[in-house]
Amino acid sequence: MRIAMIGSGYVGLVSGACFAEFGVDVVCVDKDQSKVDALRQGRIPIYEPGLDVLVARNAEAGRLTFTTDLAQAVAGVDAVFIAVGTPSRRGDGHADLTYVFAAADEIARALTGYAVIVTKSTVPVGTGRRVHRRVRAARPDLEFDVASNPEFLREGSAIEDFMRPDRVVCGAESERAREVLSGLYRPLNLIETPIVFTGLETAELTKYAANSFLAAKITFINEIADLCERVGADVQDVARGIGLDGRIGRKFLHAGPGYGGSCFPKDTLALLRTAEQYATPLRIVEATVEANDRRKRQMAHRIVQAMGGDVDGKKVAVLGVTFKPNTDDMRDSPSLVIVPALQGQGAEVHAFDPEGRTTAEPLLPGVRWQDNAYDTMDGADALVILTEWNVFRGLDLAEIKRRLKTPVVIDLRNVYKPSQMAAAGITYSGIGRPNGVIDDDSQELAAE
Ligand SMILES: NC(=O)c1ccc[n+]([C@@H]2O[C@H](COP(=O)([O-])OP(=O)(O)OC[C@H]3O[C@@H](n4cnc5c(N)ncnc54)[C@H](O)[C@@H]3O)[C@@H](O)[C@H]2O)c1
Repeated sequence: MRIAMIGSGYVGLVSGACFAEFGVDVVCVDKDQSKVDALRQGRIPIYEPGLDVLVARNAEAGRLTFTTDLAQAVAGVDAVFIAVGTPSRRGDGHADLTYVFAAADEIARALTGYAVIVTKSTVPVGTGRRVHRRVRAARPDLEFDVASNPEFLREGSAIEDFMRPDRVVCGAESERAREVLSGLYRPLNLIETPIVFTGLETAELTKYAANSFLAAKITFINEIADLCERVGADVQDVARGIGLDGRIGRKFLHAGPGYGGSCFPKDTLALLRTAEQYATPLRIVEATVEANDRRKRQMAHRIVQAMGGDVDGKKVAVLGVTFKPNTDDMRDSPSLVIVPALQGQGAEVHAFDPEGRTTAEPLLPGVRWQDNAYDTMDGADALVILTEWNVFRGLDLAEIKRRLKTPVVIDLRNVYKPSQMAAAGITYSGIGRPNGVIDDDSQELAAE
């Protein structure tokens, strides 16, 4: 089979490379010439574990090629996947569909025969039908179908998620489109992956429902963590205690600084706009968005409190700035709220991130970048762990104490045990644990 993947970012490049690994001929298209040039030279423009090897192997085998020429790429394909960005539209939170429609229009002009046009981008309910209408208007004679195949991969484990997904959702309404999609995902039959065939609207909504549910789950445990601090309970144990219940599940129950990333913040907002449009309130999602925004601001306040209530002229060492480990993605990372808030109160922030510096540097002006964790701490008044990269899990606590001017560690990811830190003579505050920072003003201040 042969496909074109329009957009070669986190989703398009991973999906394209994985389909090639399944034996499909894949042309990855991007309008960014520098991205395509890099890929042709074997350089991967993003950080995603294992992607370099996968791309190299399939490019070498001739199954994976890269181009900026969409028209050439879609000639003779069985399916064209649209995997371009759908960011929040500035001002109103609607999903910005400019890139999706631009790609659809170009595809309409270029197709030479029957193909399934598949939206892999996360798009609001109704987008597939709108794509169908645009293509039909441009090419009244063309044989084509539009399908929705939302992507559920997670950055940092994207290849494993694509190759061994919990399920694949395909909104496809003709037998022909279902056959093409079944053919592409056939290798997953071997591992008995459920392929859920639905209508277009159902597939589109499934993606938003999944992300909003997960965002709500994270927010729920974050609020329970706040209560744990006040009542002297430990959120890690509460999470384990509830997560072992099969109806709840253990994943996405890690209390932290609030969710960020390229999906949850924009997808929850976009779902709320859809709900408004259809006059159907989604109060749980509304509360999730509001609580998460507040939480990020609270985190800055929490750090200031742990440092004695004043950070003016003080040096703060920050480990990890990406929204989660194993990615260089900075989109909506909590660090983008927390670091400027500390700087705004006069702190000098030194930071280290194993892969995120290049993306982060222009977004976090004034930060002094360091090349490793320990140099970041030298002479600092406190250490803040913002992202739980593996390299931050086994730090030498005696060395931390030696390097810091004052031995204060604020661990927003609960990487360390309070007892370990206490034994090392470090004043430690985690999230939702008995010795977390309890501060009666934090709610009010964060609301300002
Ligand atoms: N990043 C994730 O973890 C993830 C997971 C699941 C779903 N999604 C969804 O997948 C979609 C893509 O996300 P992403 O993170 O890969 O975005 P991205 O910004 O990394 O990549 C999008 C790419 O599309 C290219 N592009 C835009 N218009 C184009 C056009 N007309 N022709 C060719 N190329 C074009 C851009 O240059 C860019 O390289 C979004 O809708 C997102 O919500 C993302």
